[in-house]
Amino acid sequence: MNGVTGRMGYRQHLVRSILAVREQGGLPLADGTLIWPEPVLVGRSAEKLKTISERHQLPSWTTDLDSALGDPGNEIYFDAQLTQLRFPAVRRALAAGKHVYVEKPAAATLPEALELARLARDAGLRNGVVQDKIFLPGLIKLRRLVDAGFFGRILSVRGEFGYWVFEGDWQQAQRPSWNYRAADGGGIVLDMFPHWHYVLERLVGPVRSVYAHAVTHLPSRWDESGRPYAADADDAAYAVFGLDDGVVAQINSSWAVRVHRDELVEFQIDGTEGSAVAGLRECVFQHRAGTPKPVWNPDEPNAERFRDQWQPVPDNAGLGNGFRAEWELFLAHVVSGAPFPYDLLAGARGVQLAELGLASAREGRRMPVPELSL
Ligand SMILES: NC(=O)c1ccc[n+]([C@@H]2O[C@H](COP(=O)([O-])OP(=O)(O)OC[C@H]3O[C@@H](n4cnc5c(N)ncnc54)[C@H](O)[C@@H]3O)[C@@H](O)[C@H]2O)c1
Repeated sequence: MNGVTGRMGYRQHLVRSILAVREQGGLPLADGTLIWPEPVLVGRSAEKLKTISERHQLPSWTTDLDSALGDPGNEIYFDAQLTQLRFPAVRRALAAGKHVYVEKPAAATLPEALELARLARDAGLRNGVVQDKIFLPGLIKLRRLVDAGFFGRILSVRGEFGYWVFEGDWQQAQRPSWNYRAADGGGIVLDMFPHWHYVLERLVGPVRSVYAHAVTHLPSRWDESGRPYAADADDAAYAVFGLDDGVVAQINSSWAVRVHRDELVEFQIDGTEGSAVAGLRECVFQHRAGTPKPVWNPDEPNAERFRDQWQPVPDNAGLGNGFRAEWELFLAHVVSGAPFPYDLLAGARGVQLAELGLASAREGRRMPVPELSL
């Protein structure tokens, strides 16, 4: 597990996923096989790795990726390093014959992402990309409504993602500074459009076009050591995605917005038969038959309590951590060949959407999204 000292690598992938699977006694498959993940911690800082290793009684750690890749006992290479470092490391892992599972974006550029997908296919190695958002309880509930045919004909999707990421001067920033430097692979488009790609595709349908207005609202920030730096990567993107049958999806992504919402990300789907709004955990719906008839009248105080006019979708199942849910599918895929659609080609298509979004922002025009194949 490379990048295990980082925010995602440590909390979501090591602690909430791999260690959680071990705490429950491993991952049992239908045929009686029990999968027991044995992580090897890989990173740059021996000190940080040692601390994690001691905290969780995980004896295997190294700062030497090639030695870990050279060990035939290690079957899967996982990468949660900062985005720009992913391509060379994953290529080495594939060359060493490892199955690979990687954070999104699958690589920093489309040619790199496609090359990884090709190398994995040609070597017959199992591969996957993190697509955690569709495993979130809120989006599972939204998916349930789609599968039930609740919406009738879907008309539109609107998404609102973001929160204020502190500049780092008078309060420390709550995200790593590389995210705000273009040269380090930062930028909200590359970070979030891969998510929007699979969320839209898996909830509604494939994305056929993108128009994006990407900006850098805050051009200077302060890094982890309190030093000022030029924040030259985009920190907000206002995008319109065209889907099949005239469905339009409009998603705002911003690290320079203050939250007046119930959750940090929210998606609303409106259809002829009903509408729903989903966040990370909750999802509420309003059926056509229960739709009130608001009348525009600024002369009177508002008599409607709009938020109260929606019903919650019940949990109806134990909906756990999304990263872990996807890890379990990937481990089963590696061991038993169970289906796993979130592969490197799917990841490359997310990178494609980010690149086209940035091109759209540069050129000020809507970009078609061509089909990708290997
Ligand atoms: N799926 C999600 O929701 C999600 C959310 C956030 C980030 N991510 C992805 O996870 C990856 C890591 O993001 P993060 O927020 O955990 O970042 P982070 O800065 O917290 O962690 C980066 C990791 O890369 C390692 N690294 C190696 N060389 C480095 C260098 N030169 N500079 C900085 N770090 C270096 C660090 O040691 C650390 O382990 C990124 O690719 C990001 O796109 C995914």
